[in-house]
Amino acid sequence: MNNIAIFASGNGSNFQAIVDSVKAGKLQANVSCLICDKSQAKVIDRAKKSDIPVYVVTPTAYDSKHDYEQAILKILKDYHIDFLVLAGYMRLVGDTLLNPYSHRIINIHPSLLPEFPGLHAIEKAYEAGVHKTGVTIHYVDNGIDTGPIISQEAITINKDEPLESVEERIYRLEHQLYPEVLNKLFSSKEG
Ligand code: GRF
Repeated sequence: MNNIAIFASGNGSNFQAIVDSVKAGKLQANVSCLICDKSQAKVIDRAKKSDIPVYVVTPTAYDSKHDYEQAILKILKDYHIDFLVLAGYMRLVGDTLLNPYSHRIINIHPSLLPEFPGLHAIEKAYEAGVHKTGVTIHYVDNGIDTGPIISQEAITINKDEPLESVEERIYRLEHQLYPEVLNKLFSSKEG
């Protein structure tokens, strides 16, 4: 079974969905550890409740991005990690991690990429008045939400639907789609 490290910086609802899917036997993987760059993030409590080892690696404690990622790489090697799963990890991944894990770093983004990359994607799509938005799961490269797309699913924004309702439906879709897509991907690339 593949060993995965989840990278997250915030709330961790996608982290939770992945962990719950593993527990329910719907996602064949070991969640070996959480890598978090923010010491106060809610995702840390979620990991502790599920007895998943937490590594808070703070970028400002290192002289360079390379040194920061090198510290993470050491942890990943210790756990024999096969895949890096980004779930609200608010940083660009650099070459120190990209090179050894080429096509083994995955991200989820709340828009139909290449539309609305970067922060506040749901709000940006809503403000732009599009009729469709959605969720994208993609491989990570050195750009902002630019890597090759693995899977996308769309939702239609209803007439007069409030932003909060669109956000809620996007999050629900993320929590369903991410574990499903990861499971397919992992079974085709058994580590
Ligand atoms: C999600 O919308 C994800 O698509 C984006 O960041 C958000 C993280 O939410 N990359 P959470 O921390 O998983 O609740």
